[in-house]
Amino acid sequence: MSKLFINIKELLQVRDEPTLYIAGSEMNILPTLKNAYLLIDQDTIIDYGSMSKLNGITAEETIDLDQKIVLPTWCDSHTHIVYAGNREQEFVDRIYGLSYEEIANRGGGILNSAKKLQDTSEDDLYNQSIKRIEEVILMGTGAIEIKSGYGLTTDSELKMLRVIKRIKQAYPIKVRSTFLGAHAVPMQFKNDKDAYIDLIIEEMIPKISSESLAQYIDVFCESGYFTIEETDKILSAAKPYGLTPKIHVNQFNVLGGVALGVKHNARSVDHLEELDENDIMALKGSKTMPVALPLCSYFLSIPYTPARALIDAGLPLALATDYNPGSSPSGNMNLVVSSACIKMKMTPEEAINAATINAAYAMGIENEYGSISRGKRANFIITKAIPSYQFLPYAFGSDHIDQVYIKGKLINKKP
Ligand code: NIG
Ligand code: FE
Repeated sequence: MSKLFINIKELLQVRDEPTLYIAGSEMNILPTLKNAYLLIDQDTIIDYGSMSKLNGITAEETIDLDQKIVLPTWCDSHTHIVYAGNREQEFVDRIYGLSYEEIANRGGGILNSAKKLQDTSEDDLYNQSIKRIEEVILMGTGAIEIKSGYGLTTDSELKMLRVIKRIKQAYPIKVRSTFLGAHAVPMQFKNDKDAYIDLIIEEMIPKISSESLAQYIDVFCESGYFTIEETDKILSAAKPYGLTPKIHVNQFNVLGGVALGVKHNARSVDHLEELDENDIMALKGSKTMPVALPLCSYFLSIPYTPARALIDAGLPLALATDYNPGSSPSGNMNLVVSSACIKMKMTPEEAINAATINAAYAMGIENEYGSISRGKRANFIITKAIPSYQFLPYAFGSDHIDQVYIKGKLINKKP
């Protein structure tokens, strides 16, 4: 069914030409149309333009937006949204002074989530996860990358990836899945990390590939987790299976993971709270997207990714939530965009580009998502009556979303 949205106060992120991503000073340009219309048919954007050029365009349904703003739904290119239980006790422990590292060293952290997930059935895990999926869709997320990595055994990693597959089939939002077996070293391999890496390479990757359960491969390249050499080994082993790297690097320490990711043609290198000149040099001329996760910085009180250094060096940047129970128990992309402006000194234009078109690239879906373009999926947010798009990051913490359309269908809020 065709739908025509008229009297849009401002239509954001309108791109006529196919766009891979936006970098450097161009990130500060957000193409918009004021006083616009938007025409969709079924799940596809057909046309858009100024109201003055509407010239007899009709549709089966016409919706007057009465001066509301329309923008593409957010793409959240880095989440761990499939998990079991929560870790609010660790949150309280950190308030009392324990560090994230100290908690992890006592068997908390990722291993705590892995224990919970191993004890949770696939159905239960699915039911816990879809509550969060439904929540983030209503917050304007129209595409999401989801990682495994809280299983840490072959069976439990497969369980997570099957849950991701079920979400993909049951919900209209775009889902991309990433295998993150190398998220932490399980307790039983504490004294033989090589044996766990062998298990990942010889058993997990082939099984996951034979069931086509993941598009991407991730490794937590960090002191106390996986070294540069180990990350290199895992990414090399995943390559023949067609798994593209999207890796966790530079969260706490600069180890050289950025250059390693670039060497492996990683789609993205994520976190980057710590960054040096060599990392910036490595990214220049590459097709690897740096991804910042400001809610993780906020929640763990660690530095924010130096967005200005990246963008001012001519590089692109994407933004994501990192939704997970340990370092970012929030999937709110609106808050991500606000935090990027408030704490990382990104302009609203840069932050919106980073959370839409660049984020779509970071998850390999820029052909279909991330902008208002003819032929792309009809995924968009209709705001409440707000004075300007700058108001979105400015009035942080308030819900500015009136309606969300995914694949051309209005998502109804639950009463
Ligand atoms: O991206 N850094 C590694 N992984 C997650 C957090 C994992 C956890 O604490 O459960 C992250 O921050
Ligand atoms: Fe993460």
